[in-house]
This record gives sequence, C-alpha cells and structure tokens, in this order.
Amino acid sequence: MSKDGIAVEIRDVYKSFGGGRYQVFKGLNLVVPKGDVTFVLGPSGVGKSVMLKHILGLLQPDSGEVLIFGEHIPYKDSRGLNEMRKHFGMLFQYAALFDDMTVFQNVSFPLVEHRKGLTREEMRRIVAEKLEAVGLQPETSMDKFPSELSGGMKKRVGLARAIVLEPEILLYDEPTTGLDPVTRAMVDDLIVDTNKRFGLTSIVISHDIPSALYSANHIAFLFDGQIVFWGTPDQFRKTDHPMAREFLDAEERHRKEMHA
Ligand SMILES: Nc1ncnc2c1ncn2[C@@H]1O[C@H](COP(=O)(O)OP(=O)(O)OP(=O)(O)O)[C@@H](O)[C@H]1O
Ligand SMILES: [Mg+2]
Repeated sequence: MSKDGIAVEIRDVYKSFGGGRYQVFKGLNLVVPKGDVTFVLGPSGVGKSVMLKHILGLLQPDSGEVLIFGEHIPYKDSRGLNEMRKHFGMLFQYAALFDDMTVFQNVSFPLVEHRKGLTREEMRRIVAEKLEAVGLQPETSMDKFPSELSGGMKKRVGLARAIVLEPEILLYDEPTTGLDPVTRAMVDDLIVDTNKRFGLTSIVISHDIPSALYSANHIAFLFDGQIVFWGTPDQFRKTDHPMAREFLDAEERHRKEMHA
C-alpha cells in the first residue's frame, strides 16, 4: 500500500497507566487505508476507546508513534493539534445529543464553534444538506427535540452533526451497542453509505461481529495490547487466532440458539 493511501497509522505503540502497572498497549500496530471502513473489534476493557483517544491525540503513547495522513501528531502545539483534529468527525455511543436543543441547534453546534461568520440562512442550508445526506427530511426534523425522535433518528442526527464540518475521517465508538435489530441494520447501512457518499475513511470501534462482517472493508482485532488479526471480513471468518475464534464462535452459537 502506498503511503498516500494511508489515513491513520499506529506504529509500535506502548501505553500503560498507573505508573506502568497496567499495560494497555504492548507494541500496537495498525494501518487504516484511506477510503475504507475499518472495524476495530475486541473484548471489553481491551483498550478500544484508549486507541481512539490516541488517534485523536487526546492521549500520547509512552513510546511509538501515531500518524494522521502521514503527519506526526503535534502533541506540544495546541494550534497544530486543533488543526489535526479538524480531519476528524466523531459519532459517540448513544449519539450524545443535547436534550434541550433542537435538531438544528444540535447539528449546527460545531458550525457555531468553528465556522464563525456564517449567517443563520447559510447554517440552515448546510444543516439541511447534512440531514438529507443521512436520510432525514430537513423540514420536518429541524425543529424537533431529541425526545421526539426514535433511536434510529437520533443516530442519524448524531451522524449529521459528526459530518457537518466535512471531516475526512469519521470515528464511531460502539455505534450499534444497545440498539434493536432493525435500527442496528439501519446503522450498518448508514455507516457504509456515508463513507461512500462523502469519500470518507471510517474507523468503527465495536464488539458487534455481524455489523463488522457486513460493513467493514477491513477488520482489526485488538487483544492483549496488540492487533492480533487484520484482514477482510472473509479472512476474519476463517481466522485461527484463539480469542478472535472465541468471539466468532460465541456469535455463531448465539445466532443458532436464537433460531432454534
Ligand atoms: N485514563 C485512564 N487511566 C487509567 N486507566 C485507564 C484510563 N483509560 C483507560 N484505562 C484502562 O485501560 C483499559 C482499556 O480501557 P478502554 O476503555 O479502552 O476499553 P474498551 O476496549 O474501550 O472497553 P469497552 O468495550 O468496555 O468500551 C481499561 O482497563 C481501563 O480501565
Ligand atoms: Mg470503549
């Protein structure tokens, strides 16, 4: 893969907490190809969220490096860090909308912060365009409050907010956790469609195997401080890594029991 084709690269990262007592990463390596949907899977507590924080430069490795579009994260330069973070949009678990704000206010929030000088009309136009892109009708949804929306619609609004500044890389932390099967399938499609429509790179932190097998171009499996598997969904299905296997087999068992 050419250097130009890489959005995020993590090189030999070590990270521990508690003065070195608790080692989360022990030589973590990951390459995220530009344009792809990459799922990072792994059991709870393995360090998936800590990895996201390293990609955003919110945490710094003890050793090793993280590169965004080939550039080192400028940890000591707060303006450089801000610039770097403009590459990213983020969809939080449970969408994390502000309950006392309308859909318009929620989605335009990053515009108010980062694109000062836009008129209200310009903002409404940008917000409408993003709502439409995630499958919501702008006229009927803009003035609603989150409490008036279904779970799936909230996800769409959260996604509209994540893309409103037109980032190049979209990060999702557990986008399907706690959703009903229909909404889950909708979110799977939304991840793929949004990635394509805006020519993005998407990184999805998850423990949802069916979602990953369906939506991912590449799957990375994080275990014991390292990426122990990286490959396509088809390759993942056939992995012989014991922990990844256990994950896949548990999922398979669960599905069989559901259909029994
Ligand atoms: N700031 C911190 N200080 C100390 N320990 C931390 C810190 N952040 C994370 N950890 C520890 O690092 C480990 C990895 O946490 P992380 O939240 O990344 O797991 P995860 O894979 O995202 O789990 P889950 O699937 O439950 O969200 C955990 O044991 C956690 O307690
Ligand atoms: Mg987490």
